[in-house]
Amino acid sequence: MKIGVIDSGIMGNGIAQVIATSGHEVVLVDVNDEVLNKAKQSMTRSLEKLAQKKQEIQVDEVFRRVEFTTDKNLIRDADLVIEAIVERIEPKRALFKELGELCDEKTILASNTSSLAITDIVTEVKRRDRVCGMHFFNPVPLMNLVEITGTEETSNETLAKAEEIVASINKESIRVKDTPLFVVNRLVVPLICEAITLVDEGTATVEDVDKGMKLGANHPIGPLSLADMIGLDTMLNIAEALYVKTQDSKYRVPELLKRKVEAGELGRKSGKGFYQYS
Ligand code: NAI
Repeated sequence: MKIGVIDSGIMGNGIAQVIATSGHEVVLVDVNDEVLNKAKQSMTRSLEKLAQKKQEIQVDEVFRRVEFTTDKNLIRDADLVIEAIVERIEPKRALFKELGELCDEKTILASNTSSLAITDIVTEVKRRDRVCGMHFFNPVPLMNLVEITGTEETSNETLAKAEEIVASINKESIRVKDTPLFVVNRLVVPLICEAITLVDEGTATVEDVDKGMKLGANHPIGPLSLADMIGLDTMLNIAEALYVKTQDSKYRVPELLKRKVEAGELGRKSGKGFYQYS
C-alpha cells in the first residue's frame, strides 16, 4: 500500500516511521528541506534505538520505503493520506479541501486531530464518504492504539479499510463517535489540566504531582511529563477546543498552561516545559 503523511512534526514523523516499518510505502510531505532533514535525523535516532531491541527492524530497509518530499503531487495516487499538521481548524480545513481536489477518488483522507471534530474539518471536501479520523498516540512507535472515527457521511467501507490498515501496522483500534477529544483524551486531558492547576496553586511540586500519579495510581508516566511529551502548545489547543465545545466550567483552561506557551516553553520539543530537557 502507498500511504501519504503530512507533515513531519512529532506525530507525522512517528506515523510515517511505523507505517514504513510495517512494509508499506510512505510519502512524508513537509514544507521545506530543512524540516524534512530534521525529520530524517529524528526518525534515524528512533529506528536505531528500536533496532537494538527488535532485530527484525532493518533501518536501511525502512528508509528505502520512505520518500521525504515537499511535493504533494506524489500523494495523488495514495491509498490513504494521514494529516498530522498543527491542531488548528483553518489550516486543517484548507489542507483537506486541497487533498479532496488533488487525490484520486479511491484515496482515504484521514485526520490525526486530537480534539477537532472531523465533521468541522472536512466541510469543503469532495466525496466526504472517504474521510475519517485516525487518531494515533504519542510516541507512535510505542503506543498501540488508534481511535477511528467518522462523520455521518463516512462510509462503512472507509471505516473498515481504516481498521484494516491499523491492523496491518500491528496496532489495535477502537471506533469512536465524532465527539470532542474522542475517548482517551476526553479522560486524559482533564487529568493533565488538573495536575497543572495543582502546581499553579502550590499544592505540590511538578515532581511530586508526577510521582504521586506514578506510585499512587500506577500510571507509567506522570501527567506533567506526559504534557511535555505531547507539547504544551498542542495541549493548549486541545484543552481550549474541549472548553469551547462544551462551555463547561470544569474544563476551564489552566492559566499556567497559557503562561508556559506564551513564554515559549513548549515541552520536549522546545527543550523546556514543566521539566528542563537541554
Ligand atoms: P508538531 O508541532 O510536532 O507538528 C506540527 C506540524 O504542523 C509541523 O510539521 C509544522 O510545520 C506544521 N504546521 C504548522 N503550522 C502549519 C500550517 N499553518 N499549515 C500546515 N502545517 C503547519 O505537532 P504534533 O504534536 O505532531 O501534532 C500534529 C497533529 O497531531 C495535531 O492535530 C495534534 O493534535 C495531533 N496529535 C498530537 C499528539 C501529541 O501527543 N503531540 C497525539 C495525537 C495527535
